[in-house]
Amino acid sequence: MRKFNIELKDKKIPVLLGEGIFGKITSEIEKRKLNRNILLITDSNVNRLYRKKVENAFSSFKGKFNLLTLRPGENTKSQENLNKIYSFLLKKKYSRDTLIIALGGGVIGDLAGFAAATFMRGVKYIQVPTTLLAVSDSAIGGKTGINFNGIKNIIGAFYQPEFVLADLEFIKTLPDKEVLCGTGEILKYAYLSDRAFYRFIEDNAEKLLKKDPAVVEKAAAKSVSIKTSIVSEDEKEGGKRKILNLGHTFAHAYESVLEYKIKHGEAVIAGLACALILSRRLGCMNEEKFMALSGMLKKFHPGIKFNKLKLNVLFKAMLSDKKNRDGKIRFVLLEDVGKVLTDVEAGRKDVLLTLKEAGEFFSR
Ligand SMILES: NC(=O)c1ccc[n+]([C@@H]2O[C@H](COP(=O)([O-])OP(=O)(O)OC[C@H]3O[C@@H](n4cnc5c(N)ncnc54)[C@H](O)[C@@H]3O)[C@@H](O)[C@H]2O)c1
Repeated sequence: MRKFNIELKDKKIPVLLGEGIFGKITSEIEKRKLNRNILLITDSNVNRLYRKKVENAFSSFKGKFNLLTLRPGENTKSQENLNKIYSFLLKKKYSRDTLIIALGGGVIGDLAGFAAATFMRGVKYIQVPTTLLAVSDSAIGGKTGINFNGIKNIIGAFYQPEFVLADLEFIKTLPDKEVLCGTGEILKYAYLSDRAFYRFIEDNAEKLLKKDPAVVEKAAAKSVSIKTSIVSEDEKEGGKRKILNLGHTFAHAYESVLEYKIKHGEAVIAGLACALILSRRLGCMNEEKFMALSGMLKKFHPGIKFNKLKLNVLFKAMLSDKKNRDGKIRFVLLEDVGKVLTDVEAGRKDVLLTLKEAGEFFSR
């Protein structure tokens, strides 16, 4: 088992990563003297696959234990499901000494984390990510929240878990489409990191999609190590953490316009292509570099029917991004692998041309 830490001023959040480590959950809870009034929140897919594993892990645990299962999918990150969690907690007489466990992908992690942040002004929680995207990215860093009025993550809180327990064995049952989504965020880390990791991902793209355990482990561990170190430096996205939004302004617009019928990770792949195209368009990246860095993305088609999209509708969706100031859209762009620019403003014309070119990019 590998251990990474998010080192904050007043708190250290361990991220435990390994294969077959879920069974350690109760001993990790005991070791940290956490509350024994547990509500485990998951979705029905994870429940179907792993209920036995959960029951086994908690069979000799002494304390209150309930399981709440929600429907899978992005629409679950809603006010309605948040209310469902609050109602369940109140009905079962949970109080401030509650420990919530988020067992699932980014949807469950974001929703259950936000419930933990807000129930009785905040109760403790643990992230147990079960998708490649959640292991490599969303379970780490304390961003929690829900979607509202069709706007992604618009209500939420920075709220750190007690620890993250990332068992790579969960990845073995992940459908191909979800592996592609996790790969989307891993590609982002490849662009943000260094040449060695970038080359590793470029060379092992097919193996990653086939869930080769050694490649999954290395890709997840490097992503976790980058994210834990960035969040340690800038927990609340005042500075360095902004780079983690590479491709995300575009990605959120694709998701919103397609009414969340495409997955976040797929949208990130399209968003990364847009970020590279806009970087070249604005002169941050030269043609040669663009050709060298964009090729990798072609191996991962995001499954979007680009020709059916209205560019001005996408642009409008981008105007409601949380990161905008004074009505101007701000982007994270790239000069080269590991050389990132934040808060770059781009005009409507450049953005529209970028969106047009992104469609052509994936159809070539
Ligand atoms: N908080 C953050 O920092 C952050 C970062 C990136 C993304 N996100 C959010 O994460 C969400 C996407 O997360 P996701 O891609 O994990 O999606 P998800 O939570 O919807 O999970 C994807 C699908 O995989 C299923 N699943 C989960 N684990 C499984 C397993 N082990 N085996 C088989 N099936 C399994 C789920 O039931 C679901 O159908 C988005 O809402 C996005 O906004 C948050």
